[in-house]
Amino acid sequence: MIELGRADGSQIDELMELTAQSLSQLEIKEHFNVIKEIGRGKYGRVLLVTHRCRGTPMALKVMPKSSTKLQGFLREYCISLHLSCHPCIVGLFGIAFQSAEHYGFAQELVIGRDLFAVIQPKVGIPESSVKRCMVQVASALEFIHSHGLVHRDVKPENILLLDASCCRVKLADFGLAQKRGTMIRYITGTLPYMSPELCSRALPEGQGEEDMGTDPPLSVEPSLDTWAFGVVIFCILTGYFPWERCTDTDEFYQEFADWCHEEVEEEVPPLWRKFTPEAMEMFGKLLSPEAGRRFTVGEVRAYVEKDWLKKQQQAPEKDKVNPNATATSNEARVIEDREKPNKT
Ligand SMILES: Nc1ncnc2c1ncn2[C@@H]1O[C@H](COP(=O)(O)OP(=O)(O)O)[C@@H](O)[C@H]1O
Ligand SMILES: [Mg+2]
Repeated sequence: MIELGRADGSQIDELMELTAQSLSQLEIKEHFNVIKEIGRGKYGRVLLVTHRCRGTPMALKVMPKSSTKLQGFLREYCISLHLSCHPCIVGLFGIAFQSAEHYGFAQELVIGRDLFAVIQPKVGIPESSVKRCMVQVASALEFIHSHGLVHRDVKPENILLLDASCCRVKLADFGLAQKRGTMIRYITGTLPYMSPELCSRALPEGQGEEDMGTDPPLSVEPSLDTWAFGVVIFCILTGYFPWERCTDTDEFYQEFADWCHEEVEEEVPPLWRKFTPEAMEMFGKLLSPEAGRRFTVGEVRAYVEKDWLKKQQQAPEKDKVNPNATATSNEARVIEDREKPNKT
């Protein structure tokens, strides 16, 4: 396998061209026994298959040609392939193809579910499991960033579990990954995980790209992943989203952003009161509204030995979690529904 030597991701374009020239044409059922669908996201489906000649089990990601550009498919495949040697990133077999209706590639089969599936709504998952997961995801993201790339879709659905207790996890889905420094105008992603600098550019529903206004394009930077990483930690520790989106119309976000901007020690917003001061210090750095002041993902390691959640029995009454008790009477959004496929 060719090493992605340069840290600016510049070999990706060349690899995409080479892959385009040798992309095999095959029909899925002639080469693979399709056993069942094991996953579905916004852009593709993942099928559990066995290779017809060798019997090897694989997870085949297939994307309809009708909604997938060849360049986008090639980028996802090439970026995935060249990061797949990391132990916390999903492995690939080096098989990419097109059929009459699909583009596809073969991935290592990860037999546990994804992290989204094990979050208990309104409860989350145990702190020790959260820490084990996030240390591994941080290591995967550091590796991605060190190759001059940004994942751009860090969320529980894209973190795959090798076992039920989250001992080992792998980051997947490089469908939105891009080279650091790519200038973007049109924003895609999942709203609760999108940083304020992205949300201010997100299209209001029902508007097309031509209505984008005059906002300057945004440079894709690792700090976008840091933000999503911080939101994921909140989600899996609590079973709630911290906010819908980072705009001044979202009162959950405003409360948090106000707390971040206070010079003096302020009382933390209600939704955050179950966390220790050390955890709040970490969140303040991961979720700094100013991208330039954010942690790098690896800095989370300095906090894993500390308690993140207050011990329930010691928590004063005012600190007991009541996610509905905010400045407004709105309810925090519970993590329960997956995003519908093909919804932006
Ligand atoms: N290698 C794999 N092994 C097992 N399940 C997988 C694998 N890759 C993806 N999945 C499952 O399929 C879902 C969709 O795959 P993903 O690559 O995220 O597609 P999309 O780009 O459409 O979001 C994931 O959320 C996960 O549940
Ligand atoms: Mg996905």
